[in-house]
Amino acid sequence: MPLFYQHNINESTRLAIWHIEEDESFFLKRVPLKRDVSHPQKRLQHLAGRYLLTELFRDFPLSEILIADTRKPYLPDEKYHFSISHCGFFAAAIVSSRYRVGIDVEHAGPGIERIREKFLSRKELAVAFNGLDRSGHRLRQLTLLWSAKESVFKWYSLGSVNFRDHIQWVEPYFLRAGGEFGQLSFAFRKEGDQALVIHYKLFSDLVMSFVYS
Ligand SMILES: CC(C)(COP(=O)(O)OP(=O)(O)OC[C@H]1O[C@@H](n2cnc3c(N)ncnc32)[C@H](O)[C@@H]1OP(=O)(O)O)[C@@H](O)C(=O)NCCC(=O)NCCS
Repeated sequence: MPLFYQHNINESTRLAIWHIEEDESFFLKRVPLKRDVSHPQKRLQHLAGRYLLTELFRDFPLSEILIADTRKPYLPDEKYHFSISHCGFFAAAIVSSRYRVGIDVEHAGPGIERIREKFLSRKELAVAFNGLDRSGHRLRQLTLLWSAKESVFKWYSLGSVNFRDHIQWVEPYFLRAGGEFGQLSFAFRKEGDQALVIHYKLFSDLVMSFVYS
């Protein structure tokens, strides 16, 4: 069953994750490939992400998608706001007729330790390490914080965001080892100070986060 997870958040906003088991001919029956994506795996991910948009809302007009200078895909009439992410054989999408949205999926891996100081401030690191255990949960939780910031980056969509300074994890902090579904409080401080709730779901080998506002 390729639809791995679906969550209808409210009347206007839905998200889903697709586990890619098909080859590209399956997706091409519904998805127009509008730009050249030469790497086969990336092309498959790209097609699956767009296919998922139409799974969420049958009338999603795929052929009308444009790509901004920042590389963000969008619909010119904003009938739907949407965001896409892929990772390995998973593609995730969130679509809303009302809210701006951002989504991210990541596999937790040791590479996140190497970049943690690039995307987390000293305060965030202190809070994270206070709440993190030394087991495998730690990688998942660092990955979750990275994923949350990627979601905000996509939600904002205009680029030039410094993850440490502009996207900050704030009180109340909730981050428990083994928690499968939850929310984190963030502030987006590039233009003023906007409070954001990042929702997340942890699967055994996958971290998903999303924001709508
Ligand atoms: C754009 C970005 C978020 C994509 O993330 P990624 O992990 O490479 O890839 P994902 O699979 O999660 O997302 C890819 C999708 O994001 C979407 N996307 C691309 N650029 C985007 C943008 N500027 N805004 C919103 N969405 C964007 C596209 O839908 C793309 O999929 P598609 O090409 O198949 O349509 C990432 O490349 C990026 O630029 N991150 C910010 C980097 C940064 O500033 N880091 C500093 C902190 S250390």
